Amino acid sequence: MSIQTIGIIGAGTMGNGIAQACAVAGLNAVMQDVNEPALDRAIKTISGSLDRLVRKETMSEADKAATMARISVTGKAEDLAAADLIIEAATENEALKLKILKHVEAIAGADKIIATNTSSISITRLAGALDHPERFVGMHFFNPVPVMALVEIISGLRTSEATVAAVVELSQKLGKTPIGVKNSAGFVVNRILCPMINEAVFALQEGLASAEEIDAGMKLGCNHPIGPLALCDLIGLDVELAVMQVLYEAFNDSKYRPAPLLKEMVDAGMLGRKTGRGFYDYAKK
Ligand code: 3HC
Repeated sequence: MSIQTIGIIGAGTMGNGIAQACAVAGLNAVMQDVNEPALDRAIKTISGSLDRLVRKETMSEADKAATMARISVTGKAEDLAAADLIIEAATENEALKLKILKHVEAIAGADKIIATNTSSISITRLAGALDHPERFVGMHFFNPVPVMALVEIISGLRTSEATVAAVVELSQKLGKTPIGVKNSAGFVVNRILCPMINEAVFALQEGLASAEEIDAGMKLGCNHPIGPLALCDLIGLDVELAVMQVLYEAFNDSKYRPAPLLKEMVDAGMLGRKTGRGFYDYAKK
């Protein structure tokens, strides 16, 4: 199956990153979001991100213009009907994803592949709401999508081999390395990464060290590119909390309990970079 046009639901951090990666790879990306200001912000983010490449002379102005021309935005899900493959990248909330996926299935032909970029929710459970679960698959990208080389490909119990083969091929077209992962809460990477970040929040909450010291510890002591608290600000404290809650509920194991400070900061709207304030203050920078 030749995939040329990708529909993307959600213009947030992951949605716009996926759209950028698709357009840079020569594919058409149609980004849909019910929140129109989010679509404007997404286009500005992608344009700013490509400007960095132009400044570094890894992309010409003409290539940037051609890349931007491959991206279109819409407020209506119906406009995704013509896409060969639709990737749902909405907020990490199961009820919301189920509602979106049912609607997408109603507008997309039965031969279209539907993928979800969920960070942690069971693919089999999301597929349970669909009439054609065989064409549904997890395609988990990493933030920042244009830079991170991995895509986790997660099969639900009824995902077909043809569907998996198509998203493996698409991931490779995007210049990413796909790994196949069994369906399980948090899949592989977030099962390991998110408890590590959560533990860093516990360390901060217990006053073991400052945020800067905790991050310096993991950067200098373990060669991580950025510290766990700075990484939490990058992926979003709300996303980290949502993943920990999914892990906690799925395994019923207290080792996955979210740090109270994480919950408190989410309640306070301190979601990290996207709100200008998380463990660090981005308004100052
Ligand atoms: N678009 C295109 N290129 C970009 C970019 C963007 N949006 N952002 C950064 N880059 C490129 C830069 O141009 C630069 O390229 P170069 O090496 O060719 O010069 C390179 O990426 C590094 O960027 P910077 O020099 O600006 O910044 P850093 O060296 O600090 O790197 C980082 C930034 C790549 C984000 C690095 O800090 C990092 O790797 N952090 C860890 C990221 C990580 O772990 N992500 C996974 C999160 S978990 C997740 O997403 C799962 C979810 O479900 C929770």
